[in-house]
Amino acid sequence: METNKEIYAMPRIGEQAPSFTAVTTQGEINFPKDYEGSWVILFSHPADFTPVCTSEFMTFAVMEEQFNKAGCKLVGLSVDGLYSHIAWLRTIKEKIEYKGMKNVEVTFPLIEDITMEVAKKYGMIQPGESNTKAVRAVFIIDPKGIIRTIIYYPLSLGRNFDELYRALIALKTADEFSIATPADWRPGDDVIVPTAGSCGTAKNRMDGKEEGVECKDWFFCTKKLDKDTVLKKVVTR
Ligand code: BEZ
Repeated sequence: METNKEIYAMPRIGEQAPSFTAVTTQGEINFPKDYEGSWVILFSHPADFTPVCTSEFMTFAVMEEQFNKAGCKLVGLSVDGLYSHIAWLRTIKEKIEYKGMKNVEVTFPLIEDITMEVAKKYGMIQPGESNTKAVRAVFIIDPKGIIRTIIYYPLSLGRNFDELYRALIALKTADEFSIATPADWRPGDDVIVPTAGSCGTAKNRMDGKEEGVECKDWFFCTKKLDKDTVLKKVVTR
């Protein structure tokens, strides 16, 4: 049988996060307005009372304080209803022990989206994967409500939350220091200086005339940015 391949809009990096009001496990939210001035990760999961989602929620809940200290709030969503969400989160706290995590309380809001209104707005329903469940989408949104990173995973693949944290810190570092971050960058690693925009700058860099800048070639130059300097700017301790 042919699957329903209805096409839903997909917001893009650099665009304003689509707005909505929603009922959540922590009361009603007005998104992204309520989060103005803060980074926020809006993420979807396929369904309550499923194992991969449970492992993800426990991990995110345990890491919530770490994300908060980096100035980032968390908001979850699935197309289940509020009472299912409440029952699932209670079960997680009361019964589930996984990889040393237990008695885990999920205190960030979990949106009920039975009508799929929000999930469709954010391209979280991908009919080739499922017509009835959201895929595992992640939107990292900045304090001005602009979408800065989008990552999608299929139903069977649990997310790597260290990578989500790394991406958040890298985005904030790029903003604070006007640099870019290379493959697998972590705080303390060298960063990429903006590519030379003129022949003069390219020559100066290749001649070693820009202090602290080291070039593999004129278009690929790095500088040191120590871990403490980064963390002082992007994380509260
Ligand atoms: C899970 O979270 O375990 C899951 C959810 C939907 C489909 C497959 C797996």
